[in-house]
Amino acid sequence: MNVLVTGGAGYIGSVVTRVLMREGHDVAVFDSLVTGHRGAVPRGVQLHVADTRDTVAVRGALRDHRAEAVVHLAAISQVGTSVLDPRGYFDNNVRGSLSLLDAMLAENVGRIVFSSTAAVYGEPEVCPIDEAAPTQPKSPYGDTKRMIETVLQRYGAAYGLEHTSLRYFNAAGAMPDAGEDHRPETHLIPKLFQSALGQAPPVTVFGTDYPTPDGTCIRDYIHVEDLARAHTLALGALSREGRVYNLGCGGGFSVQQVLDAARRVSGCPIAVQLGARREGDPAILVASSARIAAELGWRPAYPGIDEILTHAWDWMSKHPNGYDD
Ligand code: UFG
Repeated sequence: MNVLVTGGAGYIGSVVTRVLMREGHDVAVFDSLVTGHRGAVPRGVQLHVADTRDTVAVRGALRDHRAEAVVHLAAISQVGTSVLDPRGYFDNNVRGSLSLLDAMLAENVGRIVFSSTAAVYGEPEVCPIDEAAPTQPKSPYGDTKRMIETVLQRYGAAYGLEHTSLRYFNAAGAMPDAGEDHRPETHLIPKLFQSALGQAPPVTVFGTDYPTPDGTCIRDYIHVEDLARAHTLALGALSREGRVYNLGCGGGFSVQQVLDAARRVSGCPIAVQLGARREGDPAILVASSARIAAELGWRPAYPGIDEILTHAWDWMSKHPNGYDD
């Protein structure tokens, strides 16, 4: 299929681009490069540098690529920042998505895979979380993703748009030529390795008094390549009714366990300091991915935390300056 990947110069989007190409799709990337990197887009792939809020530019890219489907990842995605800047988040993520959908309808592109998030669940009442759990986002970021899931449902019913939403848990790891390069970095795993490389001060562990076995937060880390493979499966199973799928490995790891694994994998001591809780962090976020396993046959190829961290460490130690080197 001819696929336009929005946000394809970002961490997850650049891996999605590679995996779609490996599966035989013809991919073009649409990215504003505000947080993405030109160097993350594989050589030979057409890159359209523009904002999704620019409907004319999106229409041009869809036409240019003769797109048959869109994988829509372009968004700003930090939970904490979104609380301070809801306007920026609604504008970028909601208005950007509506503009993209306008362009798709105008150009008769009727298929979309949407990048959603575990943040739609807020503070979950059950664990592991399945897709039937109530969605009560605690942040504007989660709100924006939940809103677009709703828009897609309505557009499917009214305009026949075929869609699937994938709710990502904690993406981590790397491919040999594509890894994580956020500026500033806020995510636990790359921060630990930046510290191991001597590029950043000791990481603060956000809270040691959670109701978990070691007192630190538990998250469901999923290898970014496993996450990306789910997009190719989703593209083959789109429908007007639309399906929503969780994407995690179903086994949680605490911040302390991730730290221990990062020390093992890097061979570096990695100093940390113990700090207060970060506002808005639920104690435990673990996915049930039973639905996507049953309906699309998805299984993680890299469910172990050491393997995920080994791939992240390989990329970061070979690219200490991210995409700048
Ligand atoms: N953490 C620390 N110290 C740090 C950074 C993180 O202790 O310096 C902890 C956090 O408190 C959390 C865990 O490490 O318990 C993971 O934190 P990340 O910042 O790496 O990831 P989040 O779980 O906060 O968020 C990620 C994505 C979101 C998405 C969410 C869904 O960044 O976009 O997963 O689970 F919504």
